[in-house]
Amino acid sequence: MIEVDRAGRSFTVGRGSARRTVHAVRDLSFTVGAGEFVGYLGPNGAGKSTTIKMLTGVLAPTSGRLRVAGLDPTRRRTALARRIGVVFGQRTTLWWDLPLKDSFQLIRYLYKVDRIDFRRRLDELAGLLDLGSFMDTPVRQLSLGQRMRGDVTAALLHDPAVLVLDEPTIGLDVVSKAAMRDFLRRLNAERGTTVLLTTHDLGDIEKLCRRVMLIDHGRLGFDGTLDELRATGPDGDSLEEVVARLYTGSAPGTPAPP
Ligand SMILES: Nc1ncnc2c1ncn2[C@@H]1O[C@H](COP(=O)(O)OP(=O)(O)O)[C@@H](O)[C@H]1O
Ligand SMILES: [Mg+2]
Repeated sequence: MIEVDRAGRSFTVGRGSARRTVHAVRDLSFTVGAGEFVGYLGPNGAGKSTTIKMLTGVLAPTSGRLRVAGLDPTRRRTALARRIGVVFGQRTTLWWDLPLKDSFQLIRYLYKVDRIDFRRRLDELAGLLDLGSFMDTPVRQLSLGQRMRGDVTAALLHDPAVLVLDEPTIGLDVVSKAAMRDFLRRLNAERGTTVLLTTHDLGDIEKLCRRVMLIDHGRLGFDGTLDELRATGPDGDSLEEVVARLYTGSAPGTPAPP
């Protein structure tokens, strides 16, 4: 469902003598099969969001190749939009001044979702994510947890095969977080939606992901099951300790610094 083959993305930053190249993602290769639920971990600045932007066609790679649902994301961005849903936890894709339900209508027009399919899908999502009490509320007045549920709904109205989430639980309280996890688990188990999840919350990873990939300095440092990830550290270490060790580079399998 997702194929990444030696993908890289660099940026040129600064001017004059301060000009330099930042390698946000280097020589990245992995595949994700249909129906997988994969966690994508890495410290701040590791290259996670850049990867997601390449997968969704927002950014073109400067080297290598990507395919999502068989499509080149940058060349076939419109076709891909029908197959993929994206949630950026740090910023909303909803219309700030409109009631939530009007944002959903606009998305229906943009994605040309059939009216009956849309109704059925929205009713289902609104029930699962408990949107009923704030459908008429302007997005700017929603709590963070409500806004995030709205964003997840917006990403799924066209029933995409792949859902990519960039920090969807950031800032959520424990109740909202549990509800979000529960929803994502069911979406993957019952609907077979392929999910790629970026998060700093290792509770999300433990509860949801069978497989974890770890990126640091733009390179993939680990790709395996949650159990294999734990096994990289001494017995009795928490997942936090194991991951922190991989990030700081004192454990095997860690990418070399740039
Ligand atoms: N548009 C951009 N211009 C310049 N540098 C960027 C840009 N986007 C990301 N970067 C740099 O690329 C690196 C990876 O960023 P990012 O993918 O956002 O990391 P993450 O999401 O893992 O925190 C960082 O060093 C960041 O500063
Ligand atoms: Mg990021």
